[in-house]
Amino acid sequence: MSSALHYTLLILLLAVALSSAAAQAKPKAFLYFIKKDPEALQYSTTLEFSTQVNFVDVVLDLGGEHTWFDCDSYDLPTYKPISCGTTKCNNVKSNGCIGCNLPPKPGCTNNTCGVSSYNPFTNDLYAQGLGEINLFSTETNGLAVGELHKLPKPFPFSCADSDLLRGLSNATKGMTGLANTVTSLHSQWSSKFKLPHKFALCLPSTSELNPGHMFIGGGPYYFPPYTKNIATQLLTTKLVINPVSTAPIYTEGDHSDEYFIDVTSISVDNRPVSVNASLLSIDMNGYGGTKFTTVTPYTKLETSIYKALVGDFKKAASLRKMKRVASVAPFSACFRASSVATSQTGPVVPYIDIGLAGNQHWRFYGANSMVSLKKDVLCLAFVDGGSKPRTSVVIGGHQMENYLIEFDLVSSKLVISTSLLFRNTTCQQFRVL
Ligand SMILES: *[C@@H]1O[C@H](CO)[C@@H](O)[C@H](O)[C@H]1NC(C)=O
Ligand SMILES: *[C@@H]1O[C@H](CO)[C@@H](O)[C@H](O)[C@H]1NC(C)=O
Ligand SMILES: *[C@@H]1O[C@H](CO)[C@@H](O)[C@H](O)[C@H]1NC(C)=O
Ligand SMILES: *[C@@H]1O[C@H](CO)[C@@H](O)[C@H](O)[C@H]1NC(C)=O
Repeated sequence: MSSALHYTLLILLLAVALSSAAAQAKPKAFLYFIKKDPEALQYSTTLEFSTQVNFVDVVLDLGGEHTWFDCDSYDLPTYKPISCGTTKCNNVKSNGCIGCNLPPKPGCTNNTCGVSSYNPFTNDLYAQGLGEINLFSTETNGLAVGELHKLPKPFPFSCADSDLLRGLSNATKGMTGLANTVTSLHSQWSSKFKLPHKFALCLPSTSELNPGHMFIGGGPYYFPPYTKNIATQLLTTKLVINPVSTAPIYTEGDHSDEYFIDVTSISVDNRPVSVNASLLSIDMNGYGGTKFTTVTPYTKLETSIYKALVGDFKKAASLRKMKRVASVAPFSACFRASSVATSQTGPVVPYIDIGLAGNQHWRFYGANSMVSLKKDVLCLAFVDGGSKPRTSVVIGGHQMENYLIEFDLVSSKLVISTSLLFRNTTCQQFRVL
């Protein structure tokens, strides 16, 4: 019996030694695959909460504050509720203490730290108890996929009611938040592995073949057939703070945790579109400005900006002999596809430039500015965001696709790599060895 005990101890010691050896090779970055739902026009990823087959598909919400999903379909042996009044609870934006009168299960516990779970598609907001589970992800060196790692401390999220799933892509069971909060997916991996707080999105444009990618922890980023870091041909601009929160629920004085940039101009085929400049900056009430979102498929522009852009685009298109056809809602500039040539950067149409500080231009070619609808119909893929929207320019998924966009929260800047477009490669070509 005593030798059996020794034997067990020895194995335990070996296991400890092995795991501390493994811990020395600190991962450089983590990788999440991104799928596109071509019907819902949403992007999703998979969260793994055990090394076995236990995972949930969740919609990516760049402006979302934390992660929530419907726990009922999952076995969550490592689930623990976070109690009210604890340090963990005080570190998140808790909105009170939650109880539950049903038999206890994940998502139904008493004295639990309350957070809000928000569905931006239906605008539904629920107060839910914050819990935590073990979470796993694969490391990457930018070139290939490496080992699976466990997040050193459990991952905070909330179990949501299945009602909250309305409007989400069919295969998904919740949403994961990527805003600049302590509970967001990238904050958790970066802080718990002491990696630089950076994450990069490379959204896929189709649902076919390979997925797109999200990197957490920084570059390099390699996309075959190129053997170099594709983070070249970079546009760099400051992330700006909107002084007034854009979250569905917030405390007065909170600033927004979404990602805003300063756009200085918009132009079509090098001619400036006439835009009321005050709409491009953020006023003291938090109105105006430009932000990024993954939950709006097409960029939304304040009405006067939208009308000016569409008008200028139609003029430039007619100079290029593009044939107009009846518009298809919600778009208002549609063309006969057969009157438009195609190239490596998509349909050859007037290009749209978004001006950034330092005389930089983020240029949208046909692949990002046009959407192919019915047979032979190609429409300008921007929509009217209304006349007094909270944010004047909301850059949506279609315009972000196949750019590698890094959100660098260490130096508070946004870095856009435009090189994929010109290299006959896409966000879906990352090498998985
Ligand atoms: C989801 O599935 C339902 C029922 O099968 C179907 O009616 C709906 O169109 C699907 N929605 C999407 C976005 O794929
Ligand atoms: C929460 O507390 C109430 C009142 O004490 C009790 O009836 C209920 O069963 C508890 N719920 C859970 C999930 O423990
Ligand atoms: C420009 O936009 C601001 C903010 O919405 C508004 O107050 C102002 O009247 C607009 N100016 C013009 C010339 O339309
Ligand atoms: C991309 O493909 C096009 C057409 O196949 C070709 O003309 C072009 O040279 C290629 N570009 C690069 C950078 O390989």
